[in-house]
Amino acid sequence: MRDDVETILFHEQTIFSRLDDLAAEITEDYRGKELTVVAVLNGSLMFMADLLRRIPLPLKLDCVRVASYHGGTESRGTVTFHQLAMPEINGRHVLILDDILDSGRTLHAIRARLCAECKPLSLRICVLLQKRAAQLAAVPADYVGFQIGDEFVVGYGLDYAEHYRNLPFIGVLRSAIVGR
Ligand code: IMP
Ligand code: MG
Repeated sequence: MRDDVETILFHEQTIFSRLDDLAAEITEDYRGKELTVVAVLNGSLMFMADLLRRIPLPLKLDCVRVASYHGGTESRGTVTFHQLAMPEINGRHVLILDDILDSGRTLHAIRARLCAECKPLSLRICVLLQKRAAQLAAVPADYVGFQIGDEFVVGYGLDYAEHYRNLPFIGVLRSAIVGR
């Protein structure tokens, strides 16, 4: 698995020290507010677990599960929801957590669906990674862990065809692997 990775972009310790800063910022912003975190599965699992343990505030946690890639390396633009009930976020401050913001289609669809069905007091977006292309995305992120280029990355929750999520670091996949 390690051999399939061309370059390591962020080691575990680098991720953790960035999470310390992000968590401190979020803690200040949401102190005294009714916060519900909505994590986008599966990609944000590691990020969610490590970030939330650094936020010493009372909060509720819910998850949504979507698919936008269907096995490839580019979002097809159709976002499929895979859960029966949407989170209860009426009257709550909502922070959506996702692994990566690329075209923004996934987060746009999630935000539209949440707001169509509920009335949150506020809704912000926090992503671990933001691709360069995402600067043009319709959905801006309010909190960003790291900016990256346009390369396809895996590890620390991010997958290629459901593999590599359990790598403890974030790295660029060898181009020979993609599309194999
Ligand atoms: P978007 O809808 O194009 O913004 O894509 C967002 C989703 O695509 C993320 O939640 C990821 O699941 C996936 N994704 C985008 N870029 C990458 C990548 O470089 N590696 C792994 N997954 C990615
Ligand atoms: Mg994914």
